[in-house]
Amino acid sequence: MVGVTIVSSFLSLLFLILLALVKYFDKLWWTPTRIQKRMASQGIKGPSYKLIYGNGKEIISMTKETMSRPMSTSSHDISSYVLPHDHLWTNICGKSFLQWYGPQPHLTIGEPESCKAILSNKDRICRKPKPPYFVKKLLGDGVSMAEGEKWVKLRKLATHAFNGESLKSMIPEMITSTEVMLERWKNHEGEEIEVNKEFKLLTSEVISRTAFGSSYLEGKNIFEMLTELTLLFKNTYTFRLPGISMIVNESLRLYPPVIHLVRETEKEVRLGELNVPANVQLRVPNLAFHHEPEFWGQDAQLFKPERFSEGVAKATNNNMVAFIPFGMGPRTCVGMNFAIIEAKIALSMILQRYSFTLSPGYVHSPINSLTVSPQHGVQVILHSL
Ligand SMILES: *[C@@H]1O[C@H](CO)[C@@H](O)[C@H](O)[C@H]1NC(C)=O
Repeated sequence: MVGVTIVSSFLSLLFLILLALVKYFDKLWWTPTRIQKRMASQGIKGPSYKLIYGNGKEIISMTKETMSRPMSTSSHDISSYVLPHDHLWTNICGKSFLQWYGPQPHLTIGEPESCKAILSNKDRICRKPKPPYFVKKLLGDGVSMAEGEKWVKLRKLATHAFNGESLKSMIPEMITSTEVMLERWKNHEGEEIEVNKEFKLLTSEVISRTAFGSSYLEGKNIFEMLTELTLLFKNTYTFRLPGISMIVNESLRLYPPVIHLVRETEKEVRLGELNVPANVQLRVPNLAFHHEPEFWGQDAQLFKPERFSEGVAKATNNNMVAFIPFGMGPRTCVGMNFAIIEAKIALSMILQRYSFTLSPGYVHSPINSLTVSPQHGVQVILHSL
């Protein structure tokens, strides 16, 4: 009797272990292999899946290699630099291709119509993927990461906070914050300053002022001071506005903060000519689109703000996905107008007071660390006007 019990519990333990192994292998081998075959049969190629790591090792070594050698300061051709693996595999496999971050498949979609379908999500083909743990820790449970009903609620709140009227009321705070920065710069005229750090400070200053406000009395005093400033500002603002808008857009085209927009299939979906299985991450490669000569012409890699002189539609030849620095569709970045207004205010206030030259010490090395940023900062020398 005792023998039978021992044998049967041993067998059930063995069964459990086997089951776990099967599950593990399914996740790490059979499913990736199946998805890879399935996509290959539809003409989607890519670097082959490797056990556990996927293409992780290749991706890391290529990225490390580019990060160790700076770009030429005069080049804006950053897509091969920031995303060397995407660049390589696009050249070998075509604009749509499959790559693996561990056992997670990432399908880059090079076809503009399919990208529109993904971002507009009218047919509910996808959702926002769950962020990696460290991103969640960093960004919290905010509107950019939320899904479903929670997203609808947060989005409504955020849209309200960023509507025209509230934005207008934030302008004085943006002006004050820029004033604070310019005050600090007074002690550094003719010297080198690191503007990436300065702009980070400026942004946090603006956010804390607009989000938390100041005390009522403080507010009143500041308000009076600001009415003057705002008046002063309005003249130059309207004067400089068209040019600045083009400069901001051309900078966002060449150096978009986000390099691709990611969604995830919940179920098997039809995307243009493709049948995509469930749980595949779909990538809209906006950095690549922003640099695509097919959309922008042979001078796509040059900084030419005048291409926006007749607006975005004309500049992109009505190709909506050619310029999507803030995304597109229902999940367009809710802070877009806030960010653009802040950039224009800061730029026009700075340019009234200073001209600047790039420091000889500057090293051109844009990298992707959550957003595209200068690996070694941006050192410029200020010249008082
Ligand atoms: C710049 O881009 C924004 C956002 O896409 C757009 O609303 C604006 O009209 C553009 N300005 C110019 C001059 O192209």
